[in-house]
Amino acid sequence: MPALILDGKKIAEEIKREIKAETDKLKSQYGIIPGLAFILVGNNPASESYVKMKNKACNEIGFFSITEKLPDKTEQDFLTDLINKYNRDPLIHGILVQLPLPEHLNSDKIIEVIDPRKDVDGFHPINVGKLVIGLDCFKPCTPAGIQELLKRYGIKTTGKHIVILGRSNIVGKPAANIFLQKENFANAIVTIVHSAADDIIKYTRQADILICATGKAEFVNSDMIKKDAIVIDVGINRIPDSKSKSGYKIVGDVDFASVSKIASAITPVPGGIGPMTIAMLLSNTLKAAKNFTNAYIKI
Ligand code: GUN
Repeated sequence: MPALILDGKKIAEEIKREIKAETDKLKSQYGIIPGLAFILVGNNPASESYVKMKNKACNEIGFFSITEKLPDKTEQDFLTDLINKYNRDPLIHGILVQLPLPEHLNSDKIIEVIDPRKDVDGFHPINVGKLVIGLDCFKPCTPAGIQELLKRYGIKTTGKHIVILGRSNIVGKPAANIFLQKENFANAIVTIVHSAADDIIKYTRQADILICATGKAEFVNSDMIKKDAIVIDVGINRIPDSKSKSGYKIVGDVDFASVSKIASAITPVPGGIGPMTIAMLLSNTLKAAKNFTNAYIKI
């Protein structure tokens, strides 16, 4: 049987409708409009495209948003001052500094400047620490999106072996911490595999659920998969395509054509985890706005 396609686009639209309803309520009952500031430094085309998509989603559901597009040579102090300005701004509930930053900037120090209550990416050490010990926090959007997608498809993870390819602070490490928690749609046995592994296949073949976040186009093939595994493709890679007007096409970290014959379920690229990441950003921003107003409305 061909794999079930986990339709992140459809689920993200469903979540966006729910968030819009909550946003309308927050507006009419409390006069609060969730506000998100995007900070984009330099001219990385992928980053520009991500911020554009995130900003569009904000507009669609009635959030207030601002995009600060800064030149590549922006200095650390300038960026720090700008973040502090938004830390103080009562109309802004979330601050997102798009990564990666140009090399001359210290990303770790920049992230630490963001008020943890406005850290809708969940990258500040306070939120990272809270996630590790299971306290309420902003969960990083991509792994939170993976968990939400599994949840909405009723795919249970308790006792399952989740193997994560990649150890980034954005996906791999937070995904491990999310799925380790002793709660529903987590409580898994988690392995992180990274570039120092001598035999990656030895690990990937053990996965009941394989999360692929290598950043390498179509790296994961059908030999690497256990029969009926669930495969989550986090990759968004641009590869040359002479047939496309833009000259490139987007593929994931997984060779979809071969892997979808072995897996029981798989996320497509595009239309899988990408839209879920954006939906979780909106959800975190709504949470930040509600926290700031102390209004309790269940999402
Ligand atoms: N770069 C790649 N993914 C992300 C993300 O989720 N947030 C930010 N800020 N930058 C990213």
